Amino acid sequence: MDTSTPMLRDLDSEVVVRLRQHLRASTTEMADAVRVVAPEAFTDPTLAARERDEVFGRVPFIVAHGSELPNAHNFVTVDLPRNRALVVRQADGSVRAFLNVCRHRGAMLQSEASGSCRVISCPYHGWSYNPDGSLRQVTYDASFGEVERAHLGLIELPAEERHGFIWLVDSPGVPIDVAGHLGSSMDDLLRQHGLDEFVCYRSGSFYEPANWKIMQDAFLDGYHIKYAHAKSAGGYIHTNVSTYEDHGRHALFGSPRKSIDQWIDADPDDGTTLRDHISVAHFLFPNCTLLRQPDHFQVLSFFPDPQEPGKSRMEMRLVVPRLEASGLDEAAWTRRWDKNWDILMAVLRDEDFPLLRDQQVALSSEDAGPLVLGRNEIANQHFHRELERQHRIAST
Ligand code: FES
Ligand SMILES: [Fe+2]
Repeated sequence: MDTSTPMLRDLDSEVVVRLRQHLRASTTEMADAVRVVAPEAFTDPTLAARERDEVFGRVPFIVAHGSELPNAHNFVTVDLPRNRALVVRQADGSVRAFLNVCRHRGAMLQSEASGSCRVISCPYHGWSYNPDGSLRQVTYDASFGEVERAHLGLIELPAEERHGFIWLVDSPGVPIDVAGHLGSSMDDLLRQHGLDEFVCYRSGSFYEPANWKIMQDAFLDGYHIKYAHAKSAGGYIHTNVSTYEDHGRHALFGSPRKSIDQWIDADPDDGTTLRDHISVAHFLFPNCTLLRQPDHFQVLSFFPDPQEPGKSRMEMRLVVPRLEASGLDEAAWTRRWDKNWDILMAVLRDEDFPLLRDQQVALSSEDAGPLVLGRNEIANQHFHRELERQHRIAST
C-alpha cells in the first residue's frame, strides 16, 4: 500500500485568498532585493555552451506529452540543445529515447516530426534498428566487414514518463530521476493535476531569433501584460499582481483575471469557486512554464539553439481533457481548442515574439550595460537564481 499519498491541497483557494489580499492592497509578492543581470547572459557563446552541457545535459525536462505517442512503435523527433533525438514508445508501453543518428555514417534516421515504425531504417544505406535501439541489419554485411554489432545500437538518452509527460536528459549515461528533480512538493502538485488523464490537442515548434532565457523570462512575467498586450490579455488579466511559492528549483505563481474584481471582498453566493478567475503557472526548472487555466493546460518549453546564443526554439502544447471526459461532442471539442490555440497564437505571434526578437537585437549592443530585475519580478529572479545554482552544482 502506498502510505505516502499526500493530502490534496486546495491550491485554488489558497491562491485566491492571497490574490484578493494583493488586489485590495495594490501589492504583489516580492523578492528581497532587485537583481542585476548582465546582458552577456543572453549573448555570450561560452555561457551558452555551458548551459547546454551543465543545464540541459544534466537535468530532466519535458519534450512531449505521452498522448503524442499513444501506441507501441510511435515516435516523435525532437531537436535538443545538444542532440537530435528520437523518442520511441516500446512494445511494453515504456518510452525510450535515442540519438536520431545512424551509427554507420551519421545520417538522420527519421526526418518526420512524428510517426510509427516497427523498424527504424536508415534512408542512406539501409541499415536498420529495432525500436529498442539495437542494430537489426547491416546491409551487404558480407562485404561491409567485421563490426561489433552489439556496440552499434543507437545511442540512448535517459528518458522517463511521469505525470503524463515524457522527460529527457540531453546527455547519454546520466541517471534520470524526475521525481527527485521535481522534489516532493512539486511532484505532489503535478500528481494532483492528473495530467496523464489529459491529451495533447495540438503542439507547435517556433524557431525564434532570441535567446531561450529571453523567451522563458517573458512567460514568467506578470509585469508586462498591460503594456505589451494592451489590446489583448491586458484587457482581462491584471498586471503586476501575482503570488509566488518557492518549490526549490521550481516555483508556482498565480495571477488574477479581471473578472475576479467583483469578488474581491466576498465569495459568490451561489457557492461557485473562483478558480475560473485565476491562472496558476508552474515554472519547471530549467525551461518550462506549465500554465493551468481553469479548464486546460498550456505547456511552453524553451530550448537553446545548439550553436547560437541569439536563437532558440519554443514548443507550445495545448493539453486538454480527453473528448470522452469533456462532455462535448467532437465538433464542439475541436472548435473550442482550435479557437483557444488561435487566440494564444495571435498573442504570441503579434505581440510577444516581435518584442522579444527586438530585445535580442537591442541588448546585443556592445554597451548595453547591466540590466535589472525588480523585486516584483520574483519569478524571473527565481529562474536566474536557479540557473546560477545549477552551474555551481555542475562545476563542483
Ligand atoms: S548512414 Fe545510415 S546506413 Fe549509412
Ligand atoms: Fe507576453
